[in-house]
Amino acid sequence: MAQTEKLDLVLTQLDKGLDTALQRLLDFLRIPSISTDPAHNGDVCAAAEWLRNELEILGFQASLRDTDGHPMVVAHSQPGEGRTLLFYGHYDVQPVDPLSLWDRPPFDAAIQDTAAGRIIRARGASDDKGQLMTFVEACRAWKAVHGALPSGLVLLFEGEEESGSPSLLPFLDANADELRASLALICDTGLYADGRPAITTQLRGLVGEEIVVRAADRDLHSGHFGGLAANPIMVLATALAALKDENGRITLPGFYDGVEELTDEMRRNWQALGFDVGAFLAEVGLKYPIGEKGRDPLEMMWNQPTAEINGISGGYTGDGFKTVLPAEARAKVSFRLTGQQDPAKVRAAFRAHMQAHLPADCQIEFHEHGGSPASVMDTSDPAFAAAKQALTEEWGREAAYIGAGGSIPIAGDFKRMLGMDSMLIGFGREDDRIHSPNEKYNVESFAKGARSWARILAELRG
Ligand code: BES
Repeated sequence: MAQTEKLDLVLTQLDKGLDTALQRLLDFLRIPSISTDPAHNGDVCAAAEWLRNELEILGFQASLRDTDGHPMVVAHSQPGEGRTLLFYGHYDVQPVDPLSLWDRPPFDAAIQDTAAGRIIRARGASDDKGQLMTFVEACRAWKAVHGALPSGLVLLFEGEEESGSPSLLPFLDANADELRASLALICDTGLYADGRPAITTQLRGLVGEEIVVRAADRDLHSGHFGGLAANPIMVLATALAALKDENGRITLPGFYDGVEELTDEMRRNWQALGFDVGAFLAEVGLKYPIGEKGRDPLEMMWNQPTAEINGISGGYTGDGFKTVLPAEARAKVSFRLTGQQDPAKVRAAFRAHMQAHLPADCQIEFHEHGGSPASVMDTSDPAFAAAKQALTEEWGREAAYIGAGGSIPIAGDFKRMLGMDSMLIGFGREDDRIHSPNEKYNVESFAKGARSWARILAELRG
C-alpha cells in the first residue's frame, strides 16, 4: 500500500478513536501530579506508572527510572531504518491555587462546550498531559494501521518540569547513549494565534532567584522605630524598582551582553504574522503594552530579555491594619534571557545590584532557582520543512516559524549534552490558561494535534 494511503488510514483511525482517546486523557488528568508539592509525591508516581502502563500496552518497551526526585518514564519502539527521534514531554503539573477561582475542581477532568469551543478542562490539560498524549495517540493509530509502532522512537517523560527539572541533567548524563537521537521532538509549545499551526524556533532562557532581606532582630512598632530603623520591604522594593530605568531597559551592568538583534529576515517574518498587540492584551483585560519604545511587541516578547518580580512578601498582610516594620521581606525574581546571555553572569550581576542597594545594617540571602540559556533552533534540518508542510496540510493554514517568550530548558540541554537539535511543535492556545485557574485544552488541539503528529511521523519515519 502506498505511504499516502497508509497515512489516510492512520488519520481515519485517529478520528474513529477520538472519543476513547479523550476518555483516556481524562483518566490521566484525574491524577493530581503536582511535582512541587511533596504531599502529591504518590500522585506523581501514579501518573508516571499510568503512562508507563499505557506505553507498554501500546507495544513500547517502557520503564520507570528512579531519580533523586520523581521518576522518568522512558520507552522505546523497535529499531528501524532511517533517523531516530526522541519525543519529550512532562507528566507533572503546576499547583492549582487559588482553588476558589476554578469553575470546577481542577482534577475532576471533563469535556465542556464553551464559547471557546469544545474543551478539555483540568489542570495539565494543555501543559503538558494533553499535548504529550497527542503523540502517544498518533503512535497508537499508526500501530493499528501498520501493525507496528513507528520504528526508532525513544519517548522520555519527566515528572519535574514544573519544579525546575532537578533530576534531568544527571539523568541525561547517565543515559546519554540510550537517549541520543538524530532529532528531539518537544510538544510543550503552542499554535500561533487563531489556530494557525507553528513551529517554535526560539525560546527564552530563565534565571530564577529568591531573596530574603533582614533588618532588626524582630518586628518593630513603625511609629516608635520608623525613621530610624531600616525597613526590609522598603529596601527590597527600592532595590527591585531600580532594576529598570524609565524606558524599561534593565539597568544591571553587562545585562545585555549577548542579546542579539533580530536579523532583517526574522523581523520581516515576524511582522508578516500580523500580530495584534491590542487583541492579545485585551484577552487578559489589558490595553497598553509596556516595554521599550521603538521595539515591536513580538520582539519584546520573543527576542528581548526581561526582569520580573514573581512574588513579594513581608510584613502584615492580614485583615485590618498593623503598624509594623517587619524583620524580614522576601521576593522571587526571574529574568528571561535571549541570544547568548549567560545565566551565571546575569545572576551574579543581580546579586551585586542587590548588595549595592543594601544598607549597612541589613543582611541579604540569595537562593538559586534554576538557570538556563536561551535556545535558537537550526531550521536548516530538512525535518523542519517537512514538518512545516505536514502542519500546513493538517490545519489548512500555512504553518509559521515563531518565537516563544517561555522557557523549555531541556531544549538547550539536549543540544549541549546529547548534541541533538529540537523541533518544538505544540497545539496549545494563548487562552489555555496554563499555570492559571481553569486550564483547558481545546478538543481541536488534541484531535488535530494527534493527526499532525501522524503526518509528521509519516514524513520522518514513513
Ligand atoms: N510549556 C511551558 C513553556 C512554553 C509555553 C514555552 C509555550 C513556549 C511556548 C513550560 O511548561 C513552562 O511553563 N516552563 C516554565 C519554565 C520552567 C523551567 C519552570 C516557564 O517558561 O516559566
